[in-house]
Amino acid sequence: MSVATIVPCLNQIEFHPYLQQTEIVDFCHKNNILVAGYSVLTTLFRKPGGPIDSLVMALSKKYSKTPNQILYQWLLQHNAVIITTSGNKDRLKEALEIFSESKFKLDEVDFYKINSVGKELEYRRFWSQEDWS
Ligand SMILES: NC(=O)c1ccc[n+]([C@@H]2O[C@H](COP(=O)([O-])OP(=O)(O)OC[C@H]3O[C@@H](n4cnc5c(N)ncnc54)[C@H](OP(=O)(O)O)[C@@H]3O)[C@@H](O)[C@H]2O)c1
Repeated sequence: MSVATIVPCLNQIEFHPYLQQTEIVDFCHKNNILVAGYSVLTTLFRKPGGPIDSLVMALSKKYSKTPNQILYQWLLQHNAVIITTSGNKDRLKEALEIFSESKFKLDEVDFYKINSVGKELEYRRFWSQEDWS
């Protein structure tokens, strides 16, 4: 910010329960910079067996939404833009449903539970220190 002549309007970062990046997210929000989060599904499909799995499954039952939709919604409620991808037509529909008539909201307790259980494990999938050395 001290050198930018144009303040970025959006910052794209890895953002999922195992990498919540609170400091940079707060900084962006305070400075009117949108946060775009990629790899929110990493928690389930790239780091399976972690502490978040059973919670997401339970919430999926509770809200009658898919596990992916629980995580998309969690990201949205962090005021982040979702960046996801799929080569599977049904999963693309599943993602788009988040903005449809059947959209839903996680209640505050469940939202914070994902935050807190997610912090039990730290995992970065992209841009780790090893990538730079
Ligand atoms: N700026 C950067 O450095 C950076 C880094 C990474 C990614 N990105 C961007 O973010 C986008 C999304 O990244 P991401 O792929 O990590 O996002 P993601 O939303 O966490 O994961 C999407 C992946 O999860 C798989 N998946 C979803 N549901 C599944 C299920 N039920 N079973 C098995 N696999 C499932 C999808 O496979 P299917 O295709 O089979 O559905 C897809 O490959 C990328 O395309 C890229 O544009 C940017």
